[in-house]
Amino acid sequence: MIRARVAPTLRLFAPCPRGLEDALAAELVALGATVVARPPGGVAFDGDQAIAYRANLHARIASRVLVRIAQGAYRDEDDLYRLASAHGWEAVFRPDQTLRVDVSAIRSPLQSLNFATLRIKDAIVDRMRNATGERPSIDTRHPDVRVFAFLDATEATLYLDLSGEPLFKRGWRQRDDKGEAPLKENLAAGLLALSGWTPETPLLDPFCGSGTIVIEAAQAALDIAPGASRSFGFEKLADFDATLWSGLRSDAIRRSRRASAPLPIAASDIDPRAIEQARMNLSRAGLGSDAVALICRDFAGSLPPFERPGLIVCNPPYGERVALEGAAEQGGFAEFAATLRDGFAGWRACVLTSDRALPRQLGMKERRKWPLYNGALECRLFVFDIFAPGTAPRRNRAAAADTPGEVEPRD
Ligand SMILES: C[S@@+](CC[C@H](N)C(=O)[O-])C[C@H]1O[C@@H](n2cnc3c(N)ncnc32)[C@H](O)[C@@H]1O
Repeated sequence: MIRARVAPTLRLFAPCPRGLEDALAAELVALGATVVARPPGGVAFDGDQAIAYRANLHARIASRVLVRIAQGAYRDEDDLYRLASAHGWEAVFRPDQTLRVDVSAIRSPLQSLNFATLRIKDAIVDRMRNATGERPSIDTRHPDVRVFAFLDATEATLYLDLSGEPLFKRGWRQRDDKGEAPLKENLAAGLLALSGWTPETPLLDPFCGSGTIVIEAAQAALDIAPGASRSFGFEKLADFDATLWSGLRSDAIRRSRRASAPLPIAASDIDPRAIEQARMNLSRAGLGSDAVALICRDFAGSLPPFERPGLIVCNPPYGERVALEGAAEQGGFAEFAATLRDGFAGWRACVLTSDRALPRQLGMKERRKWPLYNGALECRLFVFDIFAPGTAPRRNRAAAADTPGEVEPRD
């Protein structure tokens, strides 16, 4: 009797920027994964190898995809050594490949995470040498294989990284494109998900910098998989299924479209160098030159680029990350608010900022706010409905009147 081969279930974990766990879980479910848990900073999910490959190829919000390979109680570094050396690494990679180990911990009793890292690395290298007669070398910059260990107070979990370079590296940004604090691509995708944007909705990023937000949006609108033009860590592992992977990748490429007409997506910036950078990035991201309207202009006093109202999604310059400048400067918020009220009635603005006083500075009450982390920086994504001067519902006016120093609507 021929038995159908049942694909083994992998225990997978995708870290993501904190605050985006639910949005990532929804992405993974849409890819066929079974979501098991969503602790702060990631989503645990089950799936087979195809799901793991698809998550790498299609998930926009994940930072990486890891597969859990061992878990056990520990009290000291020797326990970590034993846990790591019990795994059959010789079946995972070859000794002529390079390795990197990273350890992170919450409430671990260990004195030194560096020593814990060293012991896990020793365990893997010793196991490989015993099994094959050769030892892999360490490469902390461009390793072939990455192992992540996560330690809590009593338990250690070892993960094998399937992504290699983090997934926010889509392959289109050049090394020298540091712009003015560009957003990570997966955070930009998360902002779009939280904003409720859909490809039919007109979208504007009026502080676009290198164009990260609109590139994410345009790729999503055209079904361009974020991982279609990069390589992944899983391609270097012994169990790499090249047929499965090339099938998934070809399907993704076949599904992607080129824009036959301009998309309802526009981006603007006061700095002509930013607009030039965004133009080059759009083209490297596989987007035709007229898919997204790029406009070099000051947002202050500007009007919407589309007739239908839509969504503004942006991170204006502020505080810790960039030098203050132009419309979003201290006091320049008044111009930002006036521009929204005078020209963008009927639009919804989703603004990522580390400045919790933004609603007060704009004199607007947010309809929602989402706590989010931009790297280590705690931020909020504030969502405002924009009303024409004098037409804000009572709720908004009351909020404005309650707060000192607010911008009064200009009737
Ligand atoms: C924090 S950066 C945005 C980064 C962008 N999200 C990215 O991922 O590259 C803010 C941008 O706002 C632009 N900017 C500053 N003042 C402006 C103004 N008054 N009007 C339009 N753009 C402005 C800056 O040139 C800068 O590119």
